Order: sequence, then C-alpha cells, then structure tokens
Amino acid sequence: MHVTSQKTDRTLVIRVSGTLDMTTGNTLEKELQLSGINRLVLDLNECHFISSAGLRVILVARKQMAGENRTMIVINVSPDVYGIFELTGLSKLLTVKRKIREIAMDNLQLISAGVCGECYRLDKETVVKLYHEGVEPYMAEKEKQFAQAAFVMGIPTAISYDVVACAGRTGVVFELLDAELFSTVIRNDLSNLDRHAKMLVDVAKTIHNAKGDPAVLPNFKQSFRDYITQLEGVLPNEQIRLLMEKLESVPDAETCVHFDLHSSNIMIQNGEPVIIDMGDLAIGSYLFDVGLMYVHHLRRGGTRAEPLGDQNTDGTRSTTLGRILQTLF
Ligand SMILES: Nc1ncnc2c1ncn2[C@@H]1O[C@H](COP(=O)(O)OP(=O)(O)OP(=O)(O)O)[C@@H](O)[C@H]1O
Ligand SMILES: [Mg+2]
Repeated sequence: MHVTSQKTDRTLVIRVSGTLDMTTGNTLEKELQLSGINRLVLDLNECHFISSAGLRVILVARKQMAGENRTMIVINVSPDVYGIFELTGLSKLLTVKRKIREIAMDNLQLISAGVCGECYRLDKETVVKLYHEGVEPYMAEKEKQFAQAAFVMGIPTAISYDVVACAGRTGVVFELLDAELFSTVIRNDLSNLDRHAKMLVDVAKTIHNAKGDPAVLPNFKQSFRDYITQLEGVLPNEQIRLLMEKLESVPDAETCVHFDLHSSNIMIQNGEPVIIDMGDLAIGSYLFDVGLMYVHHLRRGGTRAEPLGDQNTDGTRSTTLGRILQTLF
C-alpha cells in the first residue's frame, strides 16, 4: 500500500492505493495531521480493499473531523470498496462518492439525439445516455438515482447501471430496450387512438399511484417555489404573486409525478410500455403531469414527441385529449 498526502490551504487530500488493512492503516493514521484542516478528502482511486482495521482508521479521521465548519469526504471509491462501505453502514455515516467509470467514445453507435444529449448503444445489452458537454455531472447522477427509485417502486422503466464519464461528458448506462417508441407505434396505427390514449393513461396512473420516497425524490411544489423565487426581479411582482398563487392551489401529494410524460418518453417492449427519461421524477400531484400533457396536446398539429395531438387540426382538437382526460378522472 502507498499513502500520499497533499495540503493546500486548509484542505488535506490523502490518496491511498492498494489494500488498506491493519499494517497499512497505521501508515494512514500517521498521515492524518488534521490540526488546522477544515476539509479532509480521502481519495481511494487506487484502493482495492479495506479491512475492518482500515475502516477503524477512517472512523478515527471522521471523529477528528467532526465539528462545525469541518468536512470529510471519501472519493473515487470502486464498486467493491463501495460495497464494503454499504455492508458496514459506513456509507450512512460518511459522504462517500463512487469512482466514475471512463468509457471510450470510439465505436459507440448513435441511437437517438435528444434535447439533453444523445443515446448511444454501448454493447449488445446496454446503452449510454450522454449529456451534452457542460451539463453538470449531478444531472446524470440525479437521473440514475431517480430511475433506480422508479424501478424499485415497481414503475416499468429501463434498468439503470452506473454513471460514466466519456470525453469530458457525463452519462448514465441503461439496459438496451428492444423496443419501439410509443409515438412511432401511434403514428403507424392512427386508427386505434382510443387504445393508445388508454395506454398513455394506464402508464400515467402507474406513476401517479406510486408513493415516492422523500429521502430520494424532490418535492415538486418546493422545487417550483424555488424556481419562481429565482424569477424575482425578472418578472413583475404581480406575475410572481400569480404564479405562486397558482402553484399553491395545487393540492399536496405523496405520490409521484414524471413531468415529461409524452409518448416519446414511453417505449413499447413486447407490447408492454416502459417509461424512460426519469430525470424530472418528483413527489407531487398528478395534476402537474395533466397540465403538461394538456400543453403537448394543445399545440396545433401535435408535437414531434406527442402524435396523439395530430388529430387536432379541424375541430376534433379536444377529442384525443378529451378521451385521455375522461379516462384519467
Ligand atoms: N434504454 C433505452 N434503450 C433503447 N433506446 C433508448 C433507451 N433510452 C433512451 N433511448 C432512446 O434515446 C432517446 C432519448 O432518450 P431520453 O428521452 O431519455 O433522452 P432526452 O435527452 O430526454 O431526449 P428527448 O429530449 O429527445 O426526449 C429515446 O427517445 C429513445 O429513442
Ligand atoms: Mg426524452
């Protein structure tokens, strides 16, 4: 094992490589010169295993770093070592960040380009959704976390794997769905709009009946209160007040809202719907989804994402939306 440390201002970065056990733990303990330090970073990029004696040394560091304005963070943790942190409960006591796997851009086959980034085929069974350059890495982290939360709640969605880095961008690896976009299915079968509308409603209900975990998912109303507050000084006070009033008029809920629910975020696999694009999943009233669906459907001629609006050119505008709303309420 090898331990190196680097001190800048009041931050101490300690890098550990190899195995952290009883013998090597002593070396680490000697490096923990923490007086005057307010931020300790333990970089485990090259560390493959930690024994209980090694964990004890980390706990000693944690104890020493306890107190106001002092933080400790463990970074670049491999999946195996992360497993040890989870198994022992240390991941609940410490801020532990996993190592991000680097994947090569060569040979990635583009499946689809979206607003946030692109989706590439990674291998026979997985895809990577790569966010555009400049998008904060936490966006990928968030989408992965929310997709997993949805999966655990029983919402049909793609299995999510790790967050990866690729040529300076961040992405999430998902199972490759052998599926067609629901919007394509609808376009190729416009004579069965009732059936499609019902499927969209059934999908919506699966999400709207699922009780969300507040420890994982944000509260939709609270997030939007924050967004509206940020508009102070940009919009006139009267409009801010009106927005807040409208927001508060929507009832609170413990269930989930997808907030991008259209037929291009649903894929049909073996006749069954699978919902993708979980980055905006939140806890909140289903009425927020209904509102967004309404906007998609009102656009004349429908949108690329929502062909169920295609029928709205000649006075039958409300028909498809009406069917959806009738089935929903
Ligand atoms: N797990 C998957 N398996 C196969 N294809 C997928 C998978 N996830 C996404 N795709 C494809 O990639 C497209 C974009 O994915 P997604 O909707 O998650 O990204 P997005 O950036 O939000 O795109 P958009 O803004 O166009 O909706 C999907 O419409 C679909 O064609
Ligand atoms: Mg999408």
